[in-house]
Amino acid sequence: MKEVLVIKGGEKLKGTVSISGAKNAALPLIAASLLSNDDIVLSNIPRIEDVCIMLDLIREVGANISKENNTVSITPQVTDTVIRSAKAQLIRASILLAGPLVAKIGSLKLPFPGGCNIGTRKIDLHLNGLKALGAKVKVGSDFIEIKADKKLRGAKIELPFPSVGATENILMAATLAEGETVIKNASIEPEVVDLQRFLSKLGAGIEGIGTRILTIEGVEELTGTQYSILPDRIETGTYIAAVAASGGRIILKNCDINIMENIVQKFTEIGVNIKHCNKGIEVSMNGKPLPTDIITQPYPGFPTDMHPIMTSVLSLAKGRSTIKETIYDNRFQYVQELKKMGAKIEIKGDTLIINGIDKLKGTRVAATDIRGGAALVIAGLTAEGRTLIENIKQIERGYEQIDEKLRSVGAEVKRLKL
Ligand code: UD1
Repeated sequence: MKEVLVIKGGEKLKGTVSISGAKNAALPLIAASLLSNDDIVLSNIPRIEDVCIMLDLIREVGANISKENNTVSITPQVTDTVIRSAKAQLIRASILLAGPLVAKIGSLKLPFPGGCNIGTRKIDLHLNGLKALGAKVKVGSDFIEIKADKKLRGAKIELPFPSVGATENILMAATLAEGETVIKNASIEPEVVDLQRFLSKLGAGIEGIGTRILTIEGVEELTGTQYSILPDRIETGTYIAAVAASGGRIILKNCDINIMENIVQKFTEIGVNIKHCNKGIEVSMNGKPLPTDIITQPYPGFPTDMHPIMTSVLSLAKGRSTIKETIYDNRFQYVQELKKMGAKIEIKGDTLIINGIDKLKGTRVAATDIRGGAALVIAGLTAEGRTLIENIKQIERGYEQIDEKLRSVGAEVKRLKL
């Protein structure tokens, strides 16, 4: 039996939504927990499918885990360095286990990482970084094996592109390497900075936190800590988009708009009112969105993960908008689904040309990936009639209780078993 979401569009939103912890911080922090010799307690962990998979993967190598609501306690013992589970192929973040395990135990063998099907998504920068620290890499037809005969050694590494995952993997490996590692052109995404803060609390020697140049002095061992994951800026942006498309006024609690300046600026430009209030932020919208032009870029630029969600909003704008996708080479699969709902979108190379229309129409569509799925939810909230979304497993990979949260602000969203 498969589950679907059925949304009856047209309700204005009203009420309060509590934002969860960031998926893209939770995944590396769970992997990084393996570096520690003592127990780790992570709070504000989102209850989403990708986190469950990552926890299963660290359990597979020997970690003990207990969960209570949004808190996860990890005893990071490692008894095995082979991941056999095909689950590793469901998330790209499984490759983030390489840095911690090779640094601490000296090896990891795992199936090729997968994740959202949104482009080529190479891992050469991860592997080259680990090689620079002294690891040997063997790439088979369906697995990767990374080994270090002796302790990793610090190195100077300049990334040709500020990859989020490669920065995280090299950083984690460097914390237990001998001597100093310098990472130039490091990613400065807030979730990477959260990982740096977490590792520092474990006792890692990191200088340049939050900057493009990280200097890491390897230490003998890392110790336990308690840490609360930062709020999810893409989930926050998704609920702002819900208001931008549907109209109404909602309050978002437990979010941090200081780490999402570019997102807030774009929403403001298209007519959304966003202001601080004593509980968090208040988001309201009257009338239709204005058109705009967006280029996705590494932080602090406009995030690629907001692109599909923005497409839904701009499908209803008063005029023509463009979105240029510079991070992924195949992030447009969701467009065909939005077109089934009547959206007028043209793909020209790496750019979408979106001609705003008055109303989208509800129909049967399928989520192609996490954010493409979220885009369909936003479209469904404002569409005429009912929208039935299949393959909602994709949405659940990244959004905690999206149907419940939307119902709590007045949307007509049902989860049905077909
Ligand atoms: C992370 C996020 C993802 C987000 C992305 C960009 C997690 C778990 N996921 O993914 O939601 O969309 O950042 O903000 O945090 N690349 C290479 N070689 C590499 C690594 C990356 O060519 O070794 C390319 C990729 O193919 C892609 C681009 O760089 O086109 C961005 O990838 P990266 O910044 O590494 O993103 P992820 O860490 O995979």
